[in-house]
Amino acid sequence: MKELRNYPTDKLVLVTCGLPYASGEMHIGHLRTYVPADVFVRLLKKMRVDVTFVCGSDTHGTPVLTSAEAAGVTPKELYTKYHEHYLETFPKLSIHFDNYGTTDDKENVNRTLQIVAELKKNGYIYPKELETPFCDKCNRSLPDRFVRGECPHCHKDARGDECDQGCGRYLEPGDVLNPRCAICGLPTRQVTRTHYYFKLTAFEDFLKEYLTNVDGTKNAKNYALGWVNEGLRDWNITRDLEWGIKYPDDPNLTLYVWVDAPIHYISSTEQWANRIGKPNEWKKVWKPEDGRLVHYIGQDIVYHHCIFWPAMLKGSGYNLPSAIVASGMVKIENHNFSRGRGYVVWIKDDYLDKGLDPDYLRYYMVSFTGHTRDLDFSWDAFADKVNTELVGVFGNFIYRALHFTNKHFGEVPEGTLDTSLKAEIEKCIETIIDGTNEYELKKVADEILRLASVGNEYFQANAPWKLVQEDKAKAGEILYNAIALSKALAVLIDSILPNVAEAVWSQLGYDGPKVHESVFEDALKVPKPGDALGTPKPVINKIDDDLLADLKKNIESRIRLAEAKERGEEPVAEETISYDDFKKLDLRAGKIVECEKVPKKDRLLLLKVDLGTEQRQIVTGLAHLYKPEELKGITALFLTNLEPKKIGGIESKGMIIAIEKADEEGVWVPVKVDGVPPGSKAA
Ligand code: 2FM
Ligand code: ZN
Repeated sequence: MKELRNYPTDKLVLVTCGLPYASGEMHIGHLRTYVPADVFVRLLKKMRVDVTFVCGSDTHGTPVLTSAEAAGVTPKELYTKYHEHYLETFPKLSIHFDNYGTTDDKENVNRTLQIVAELKKNGYIYPKELETPFCDKCNRSLPDRFVRGECPHCHKDARGDECDQGCGRYLEPGDVLNPRCAICGLPTRQVTRTHYYFKLTAFEDFLKEYLTNVDGTKNAKNYALGWVNEGLRDWNITRDLEWGIKYPDDPNLTLYVWVDAPIHYISSTEQWANRIGKPNEWKKVWKPEDGRLVHYIGQDIVYHHCIFWPAMLKGSGYNLPSAIVASGMVKIENHNFSRGRGYVVWIKDDYLDKGLDPDYLRYYMVSFTGHTRDLDFSWDAFADKVNTELVGVFGNFIYRALHFTNKHFGEVPEGTLDTSLKAEIEKCIETIIDGTNEYELKKVADEILRLASVGNEYFQANAPWKLVQEDKAKAGEILYNAIALSKALAVLIDSILPNVAEAVWSQLGYDGPKVHESVFEDALKVPKPGDALGTPKPVINKIDDDLLADLKKNIESRIRLAEAKERGEEPVAEETISYDDFKKLDLRAGKIVECEKVPKKDRLLLLKVDLGTEQRQIVTGLAHLYKPEELKGITALFLTNLEPKKIGGIESKGMIIAIEKADEEGVWVPVKVDGVPPGSKAA
């Protein structure tokens, strides 16, 4: 088998992801880093590499402080809330870190102070007078996101620390022209005080050489080399702020968030090492013991990871990252990602709470486009990829292979692996290794789908449904190969679609979760004739049209609302109906006397409803939120004169009325009218 270029099995490999600011909920932009990193980690494990995966919440700096002020809570209260949200949400996406701490943890504070002391001792930190903006109205000094002004490079409107609307450059305090306070909008005055600087200019030659040789994606190294070649400036590492890690030589200053944030990569590794009872294990990657260190980041933070961070590590005697892998950004419906303008997809509310399988989104994130390109997300493209590729190609092959074998043989039939299919599996593994070496996971995903297509062609060409009538042993031989290929596909797809792989593994008659322990060699270990198989059922379900329409409507109305807000308009209800129209609605209490799941439809429940004078059959799309037994027996409100409609192939005569609960969960609950006799009409 081909070797991984940079990841030998006898070294510890540490993979990290850029830390999310714990100042808001997880959105699809975050997944552009976390999903590929998680897939990469799982791929390395499939090649027997010893890999540890760490991350944590970024809790300091103005992003957390401004959000806390807006919410009227302390920064600690704010970050705790979102830190918990991240801790809860990552596993739901099958993203499993070996350690996930916060930058406010004592290990990180200690490690940061140690590194700053070391940099100072080595002569890399010096004091200097600096003029920074101050707002007389708000009576505060205005670092980073508290100030806006004109970018000195491209002249677009920029925030204090980054040209966020223009050229994307990192900006030093005092850089923006015509500064104004981001809170009250008034012009600022300049105040002078002593700040502390890191001698970045001393690392220019080192960085040129380091960046020329570092592994990872070209966008990271090429941008960074360009900036170094333009010439660096020393870096101001203190801020006139209360919130953050105090600067040791002046307790009225805190360290800039970009000092202690990356240091958490080290302290998160230390936390992991302590937890596994090997307190020195972290040194294998961070002190000269020759481990491997891979940073997965978004393209917007290349400057910090390719310039500040290696210089800090070099200046304080730590190992350097062996690879920096930077992803392109996310667009929504071909617009720049923007929470404020409504171009956002929230992971909890818009995806997980809709009952969608996280595997589908994982697949989209790695297979829609190349890793370094911008990824456009649209619900239509998402549904198309799921329905055409995952259901139509992958799911279709697995289901046909397992269903047909089960029906005609009830176990793994007699057979041997066809040499050409074996070669296809080997070729697939080689291409996956190439994709991993190139940090190009689209190549990996596409290749696995290609192998599933090979399976469909094999099945079609050999027509086992005909053969089984004419020559059962021959049909058994074909199906044996289809089962062997299904097994290989489960092992190979596991890194991208862990839930799907688990389902396939169970249907093959194995212990489902064990597929996560499989290695690529297992893809070539053939099944044993006579072994029992599990019960076949589709492992991937189509995104149905009703759900798709609902998902699209959701984002469209959010964008419309944001546009109205930008125009200064009050949000209005989309359409109104007259009272006469309202009177036409026949709303009645109905008792749910029976409730069952509609087979093969993830979201549908079939209700039998007692309306006093008759019993009605009503189909509702609440199965992702309620178990049948939770709804059976309750009396709820129903619209009873809705025209009959076929839903999931079943005639439905009415609709359950549901409202959004006003609590944090925002789940849909039926309007219960318990105690009211069935058939009572709403006033
Ligand atoms: O840009 C961001 O979202 C930062 N919170 C990333 C920090 S990554 C690292 F250096 F810690
Ligand atoms: Zn600019």
